[in-house]
Amino acid sequence: MDINIYKTSDDLAENLANHIISNYLNKNIALSGGSTPLKLFKVLSKKLDKLENKMKFFWVDERCVPPESDESNYKMAESFLFNSKNINRENIYRIKGENQASEEVTNYSKTLRNNLDIVGNLPCFDLVILGLGDDGHTASIFPYELNKFKNESDCVVATHPTSGQKRVSLSEKIINNSKEIIFHVSGSGKKNVVDEIINKRGDYEKYPASHIKPNSGGKISWYLDFEAADNLTK
Ligand code: 6PG
Repeated sequence: MDINIYKTSDDLAENLANHIISNYLNKNIALSGGSTPLKLFKVLSKKLDKLENKMKFFWVDERCVPPESDESNYKMAESFLFNSKNINRENIYRIKGENQASEEVTNYSKTLRNNLDIVGNLPCFDLVILGLGDDGHTASIFPYELNKFKNESDCVVATHPTSGQKRVSLSEKIINNSKEIIFHVSGSGKKNVVDEIINKRGDYEKYPASHIKPNSGGKISWYLDFEAADNLTK
């Protein structure tokens, strides 16, 4: 497990973007949503402007909203990452949040299996970037629905615990089948859950994020700013 800690969220975004450019320029990558990726997308877009790249973009999860909704993870990437002129639109494989969730779960599984290498009978990402909620959720799997992460399907329908918003999310087995999994985490609000998961403290297994363990040969890395890593360094 690699743990990379940077002073600020801007330094974090810059260094994670450099890691992606250096290692994944012509590979496939699954993106998460939420607010943390925004700085990364902006930095990555500027760097990609200067480079020929054939990256294929997928998603870890998506809210069941239209692609033009401000809630859409795709829309955030569209606005801040895909505005780079060097993105081949044919290499963007979004989860269609406008579709019926139960249908899109099946559709996206087919998309993954048609466009990714199959390793151990499962689609295999080169890189998956995960966020982390302060409640230990990742992708769209929240602690109360941990069992869904273990689902035999490639993708699952999840429900946000407070808003009731439906989401389509990759299941644990797909994420764990990746060659590299990166947790991209910023801010003091995450410092406790980061410490509990990395150091296996207390009831850490209640957190879906603690069940992210790459299969043999895979790598897990944490990219953190000082605030999110604060308890680690004490
Ligand atoms: C989503 C994300 C989700 C996110 C965490 C962290 O669709 O919201 O995939 O898992 O990564 O909730 O969100 P922040 O980056 O906003 O803290």
